[in-house]
Amino acid sequence: MPKEIVLSGIRPTGFLHFGNYFGAVKNWVRMQDEYDCYFCVVDWHGLTTHPDTKELRENVHRLLSELLASGLDPEKSVIYVQSSIPEIAELYLYLNMLAYKGELEKTPTFKDKVRQHPNNVNAGLLTYPVLMASDILVHRAVKVPVGKDQEQHVEIARDFAERFNRRYRDVFPLPYGFNYGEALTKILSLDGSGKMSKSANEMATIYLNDDDDLIRKKIMKAKTDSGPTEKGMPKPDYIENLFLLMQIVSKYEDVARFETDYENCSIRYGDMKKQLAEDMVTFIKPIREKAVSIKNDKTYLTKVIKMGEEKARANAAKTLKLVKEAMNLNYV
Ligand code: TYM
Repeated sequence: MPKEIVLSGIRPTGFLHFGNYFGAVKNWVRMQDEYDCYFCVVDWHGLTTHPDTKELRENVHRLLSELLASGLDPEKSVIYVQSSIPEIAELYLYLNMLAYKGELEKTPTFKDKVRQHPNNVNAGLLTYPVLMASDILVHRAVKVPVGKDQEQHVEIARDFAERFNRRYRDVFPLPYGFNYGEALTKILSLDGSGKMSKSANEMATIYLNDDDDLIRKKIMKAKTDSGPTEKGMPKPDYIENLFLLMQIVSKYEDVARFETDYENCSIRYGDMKKQLAEDMVTFIKPIREKAVSIKNDKTYLTKVIKMGEEKARANAAKTLKLVKEAMNLNYV
């Protein structure tokens, strides 16, 4: 039986951070052994908000190195750069005819971007979800491993797939956001203000290329409070977030000990953060060091990029053939 197809992407607009890692990349690494996986660096999406391309090549190489160092394997998955696949742009054009201005304007991520970049509200920004749908549908992917913040975009892709199938012919399976746990996840910024992100407060974001001391410094500065005063008190979200980070990088018994201390109102956040900082350092150090050595090996990176491009284009071309047939765009 053919394996289910998986597609996910990441923008080359900043350093890979722990939110990206836990919300997406960790699942990607695991999925490689079970599914037919496609993972792309979405440089066209980056251009919607970052039109300056002077450092793009460097950023794409760095991000690819970080993904490979995190465990993506070009022998198991197809790893490629979005702009090397023109079929994505062609599908984007067709899907744009099925996307309505009103619905795109209502997308919360579009509204956020308009607030953040009032002087650059370009059409690419408005049709960002159409391009993302094209990434997914061009491989007829079903599972889309993403963090919580991308859930709505994947639902829009699903709507477009349904709309296309109804309007023309069944070409696309219906994709959905995937996580091995139950719900899609969100890592908060260490200052407790919203999600950890590439562009937010750098001291509240843990990057996979942060050095040991910087990781320690950031975690020791993370927002806490004076602690619970009654048994069974719910955790504020910024404390819940520290526990979540601990569950990812720390030993089970250490997490359990701090959970008990919280429950007994005897928790000392200073101790908890020291433990978390050391475990985070141990977790990130090998990834950071591996990423540096991969990034210096241009021959290897070029090989990975070319190999991914070839495989991704071959598969995308098959979908475009089906799409054009379904739309009667055949004249010879
Ligand atoms: P991007 O580049 O912002 O983020 C890449 C992935 O990281 C996840 N993520 C998080 N997960 C949990 N907590 C956080 N704080 C956090 N921050 C980021 C994101 O959910 C995402 O999975 N539009 C997408 C890129 C994209 C894409 C696609 C994704 C383009 N085409 C097709 C999937 C399929 C984006 O901007 O992700």
